[in-house]
Amino acid sequence: MSKFIVETSEPLKGKIRTDGAKNAVLPIIAASLMAEGKCIIEDVPDLSDVHTMCELIRILGAEVRFENNRLEICADNIINRELPYEPVKKIRASFLLAAPLLTRFSKVRIQMPGGCPIGIRPIDLHLKGFARMGAEIRQEFGMIELTADKLGGNEIYLDFPSVGATENIIMAAALAEGVTVISNAATEPEITDMSEFLNKMGAQIEGAGTETVRIRGVDRLYAAKHRVIPDRIEAGTFLAAAAITGGDVRIENVIPEHLRAVISKLKEMNFGIEEDDDSVRIYKNDDIKSVDIKTMPYPAFPTDLQPQFMSLMTTMNGTCIINETIFENRFQHVGELSRMGANIKLEGKSAIIKGGNRLTGAEVKATDLRAGAGLIIAALCAEGKSEIGDIYHIERGYCRIEEKLKALGAKIEKLDI
Ligand code: EPZ
Repeated sequence: MSKFIVETSEPLKGKIRTDGAKNAVLPIIAASLMAEGKCIIEDVPDLSDVHTMCELIRILGAEVRFENNRLEICADNIINRELPYEPVKKIRASFLLAAPLLTRFSKVRIQMPGGCPIGIRPIDLHLKGFARMGAEIRQEFGMIELTADKLGGNEIYLDFPSVGATENIIMAAALAEGVTVISNAATEPEITDMSEFLNKMGAQIEGAGTETVRIRGVDRLYAAKHRVIPDRIEAGTFLAAAAITGGDVRIENVIPEHLRAVISKLKEMNFGIEEDDDSVRIYKNDDIKSVDIKTMPYPAFPTDLQPQFMSLMTTMNGTCIINETIFENRFQHVGELSRMGANIKLEGKSAIIKGGNRLTGAEVKATDLRAGAGLIIAALCAEGKSEIGDIYHIERGYCRIEEKLKALGAKIEKLDI
């Protein structure tokens, strides 16, 4: 198993380019199964989650080539077979294959995606959408069985703006008969990106990225070429790393609008921020202020940057409060940060971070990909050396993070043991 060795680092300085967005690529790979012909997807990050998703569609018979951040997928000859639980349990996004398969085969059996460290991750809203479109649903022996000769458009209200449920329903509706209207839809940029890809394939989707999405079903979809949007969560992670070291870093390949809540919080903390069309620069000011954060669906502050900003908050004077409203168990990094000397108390969905403590290096473990990124960030400013274990979590969502941080002056090494 590999680990990261991180030591106190000088202020990070320089430029870094973010990769294409993991959470856009995964639904786009699923959507490519609905096209006739070969889809080309560019700026695809070389992540283990992407390789797992490619492994799953290869098992279904798709032809997949992935090199130099470019994916070629032809799903003309896919077969309707059950996916083995081994790869399915690695990524929840495997459940995004449900809709594409249901639009091609009248009966689909797919493994229920397991929970994960941050929560039980139910799929009731996905299933509600499929049922509203006429699918018959059976759940037994860890499997979901979906049956529908032809899905029919309908009105679907999401009780919670679930990202995955919105994506699955949009894909199912794209080849359904008639019109589907999703209300209270999730509005994350990754949903807009997937919908733009589907529209290039011939789908008729309006309103993606807003709370009301209207999809008019079509008979067939055709292969398309698409460049994935930048990864706003990777960009936010680097902003936090630069901030905690008091550095001066320009992050390139960014859509600042996708980070509006995050940039606003950094400005509230009194960090210097410079934006242009496709980059954001952060630099240290005096008198950094503590702030509170509440994670909520986009465009509010993203839950996927909560651990990284908690690490930043441990080094600030004063008290910060984080209210995590999306996942019921996304504070597992608190125990690890406490081992580094952080003073954090949990009260239900809130974490109270008393800053000002000197962090010291320790042996810690990544509990999920964003928590692991948060530990790297804390270790950059902790006194002494930290060893971060279970970094396979981190490598699910960050491509060669140690090389990118090293290029900015960070003292981080990957140890393959
Ligand atoms: C996506 O997960 C992201 N993953 C997550 O990123 C991200 O944290 C999450 O959206 C929220 O932004 C991908 O896009 C691959 P949800 P998803 O459905 O779709 C409840 C990362 O770090 N819910 O919006 O699974 C659920 O319990 C990962 O890159 C239901 O109740 O998120 C949770 O509390 C982690 N019923 C909330 O919605 C459902 O049917 C958010 O879940 C579905 C969800």
